[in-house]
Amino acid sequence: MLEQDISRIFFTEEEITACVDRLAEQVCRDYAGKTPIVVCTLRGAFVFAADLIRRLDLPLTVEFLSVSSYGSGTVSSGNVDIRLDIAENIEGRDVLIIEDILDSGNTLSHLIKELNARNPASLKLCVLLDKPERRMPGVVLRPDYLGFTIPDEFVVGYGLDYNQHYRNLPYIGVLKPDVYRS
Ligand code: PRP
Repeated sequence: MLEQDISRIFFTEEEITACVDRLAEQVCRDYAGKTPIVVCTLRGAFVFAADLIRRLDLPLTVEFLSVSSYGSGTVSSGNVDIRLDIAENIEGRDVLIIEDILDSGNTLSHLIKELNARNPASLKLCVLLDKPERRMPGVVLRPDYLGFTIPDEFVVGYGLDYNQHYRNLPYIGVLKPDVYRS
């Protein structure tokens, strides 16, 4: 049913699994001997974060953070508010932010500024998808761990939504333009 709104599959379940394995290996190596706080941004990153943390053989804790959303549109509004903050004090701690997608960079640049102000020992960024073509001028953001770089196409699935739907697709696909134009 959902599949009829998808014009093509961008990353299959198998490709995503291989990618998450690769990222988990890098994170495990870098955080060996540490007790990181993994910050999952809601809602989009919850599927990716759930898969990633289960591959991390580390004594980690998980926090959730919710920031303002695109609403029902396909472009960032430019305003970022923290609507649900993490519960833990991150001062002196190693923090790893998990994001599903880096687009204009608006969300993450605000988030990084906000979390850095709380004086963590380190703050790193793990992003599944990066759309560098969409970056706002002046925003320089390079994820420490990156899954895939993608062109400027509207993708859904594996946590990513359009109008809150399609997050439950097990793969990442391109949404047919007539779905968001109608
Ligand atoms: C998406 C995504 C990032 C943000 C990236 O969230 O999860 O947080 O957009 O876009 P940016 O780089 O242009 O800021 P969204 O606001 O769609 O909310 P969601 O996570 O609830 O889907």
